[in-house]
Amino acid sequence: MDKLQIHGGVPLEGEVRISGAKNATLPIVAGALLADGPVAVSNVPHLQDVTSMIELLGRMGVSVTIDEKMRIEIDPATIRDCTAPYELVKTMRASILVLGPLLARFGQADVSLPGGCAIGARPVNIHVAGLQAMGADIFIEGGYIRARASRLRGARLVLETVTVTGTENLLMAAVLADGQTIIENAAREPEVVDLANFLIAMGAKIQGAGTDRIVVEGVGRLSGTHYEVLPDRIEAGTYLVAGAITGGRVRVKHVRPDHLDAVIVKLEEAGAQVGVGDGWIEVDMRGRRPRAVDIRTAPYPAFPTDMQAQFAALDTIASGVGTITETIFENRFMHMLEMRRMGAEIRLEGNTAIIRGVDHLTAAPVMATDLRASASLVLAGLVAEGRTDIERIYHIDRGYEAIEEKLALLGARIRRVPN
Ligand code: EPU
Repeated sequence: MDKLQIHGGVPLEGEVRISGAKNATLPIVAGALLADGPVAVSNVPHLQDVTSMIELLGRMGVSVTIDEKMRIEIDPATIRDCTAPYELVKTMRASILVLGPLLARFGQADVSLPGGCAIGARPVNIHVAGLQAMGADIFIEGGYIRARASRLRGARLVLETVTVTGTENLLMAAVLADGQTIIENAAREPEVVDLANFLIAMGAKIQGAGTDRIVVEGVGRLSGTHYEVLPDRIEAGTYLVAGAITGGRVRVKHVRPDHLDAVIVKLEEAGAQVGVGDGWIEVDMRGRRPRAVDIRTAPYPAFPTDMQAQFAALDTIASGVGTITETIFENRFMHMLEMRRMGAEIRLEGNTAIIRGVDHLTAAPVMATDLRASASLVLAGLVAEGRTDIERIYHIDRGYEAIEEKLALLGARIRRVPN
């Protein structure tokens, strides 16, 4: 297994192009199952999770081709088995996103329950209850969700918690249902909006995506289309923090600045100068030490849970005391324990981490435990004195395309080495 080796202490300088969004690509690729004809998707990031989703469709018999520019073509016509097997679902929870499309388009879906997760319990009860309200017969057997419906019926769904993939699954089910579906308390994340725009390009009738009330008029069929995935706001935010934490100047290109409002506010609070233009954001820390910031995660448009760990890294070397409160997932602080091993002063009180900034971190061997936790360890490594070795970096390859190459272009001393 590879590891990342980082020699910290270099202020990052330069520009980095941001890839397509992982969390938009996954539902869009799953949503291609709804089409009558071939679907082409471009600006797809080269990531392990995307490969896993493609492999899942391939196992079902769906034809998927990829060209050298990571443009994917998906033709659902060849499907022969509506099953998402355990051995694939256990490697990627987002496999649950095939449940809604399979049921809506083919009348059946057998999807393994995802099980435990490194960041929290992450149940899928809201996905299941919504489909049942739309008339699906669902039972759990042998660890699988077995769902059947000759045609789903439109319904008013009031989601008990804001859930991103839950909203996406129900939206994909509703577009081919008979009649009107209203999703109340819907997730407003840009990735939900991107999925809705993709479905609209296929002929779906959707209003209100991006608000907490999505209204869908079911249609009889959806056609193939070509769609370009939106830029990854979390990848962009991670590189901006990399600029800030190292006292450098980093510009992220090919981004949607409006999707990063909550992150930009916190970078400014930390003392960075932030410039925004058409498709780019630049953070300039001018060699200064960041000021500690307080973060509270919540559904979009509030501060994203997927950026919490990166700001925790920033707080470890900031002046003052910062707090990080995680309200979405119950166990998303594993990175805090690893950063303590690098000299960070962090106290945990329930779902809040209290971080007293230290003058410097010292390098140590650390272990990645989930995707965003790994990103925060890379950031800590970029400022630590000495050589940080990060193990289990398969987590980072799930969500950051060529991270060591992009950071090296900004001047970081980082390399991937076999363990
Ligand atoms: N929840 C339920 N029941 C459900 C569904 C969710 O109780 O049926 C709870 C969860 O346990 C959690 C909360 O609702 O406490 C919100 O979870 P959500 O369902 O929104 O998370 P998700 O859809 O499983 C997506 C992203 C995550 C991101 C979260 C929150 C994808 C593929 N994944 O997960 O991304 O953290 O939304 O924004 O879109 C990542 O990229 O590193 C990542 C974990």
